[in-house]
Amino acid sequence: TYEKLWLAGSFVLIVGFIVTITYGSVGLGITMIDDEANTVTPDEIGSDDRFSDPRVEQVGEDEYEVYVVAMTFIFQPDPIEVPASSEVTFYVTSRDVIHGFEVAGTNINSMAIPGQVAELTVEFDEPGTYGIVCNEYCGPQHHTMEGSLVVT
Ligand code: CUA
Repeated sequence: TYEKLWLAGSFVLIVGFIVTITYGSVGLGITMIDDEANTVTPDEIGSDDRFSDPRVEQVGEDEYEVYVVAMTFIFQPDPIEVPASSEVTFYVTSRDVIHGFEVAGTNINSMAIPGQVAELTVEFDEPGTYGIVCNEYCGPQHHTMEGSLVVT
């Protein structure tokens, strides 16, 4: 009868919803695994391709990546040197406590959190020297924690 067909149809729909919800959760799980690409624990920094050697790396004609490690009470590398009018992506992490990574006079401002990698992309138009400061209290020498960014 039609009634039985409707019941069967509803059952199929309900199973369908459950499958969709389950797949949704699995999808989320995969997203979280992807995010692992943007994490690095302090213990892993020494063997991590990006952060074991904090540096400026040219990755395209006008494209640079900068791998920054903050720690009490310095930034590496220091100074950071990049050419003007190029696209610069900073990847910033900390090897101990929470620090800040702020390039004075620009809108570059991020926390440097142990275990996480912050990503910031910017283009510097003006050559010059910019101060880098830590703006999160990180210990007794917090106020001395600074670096410099030289745009050539
Ligand atoms: Cu590092 Cu304050």
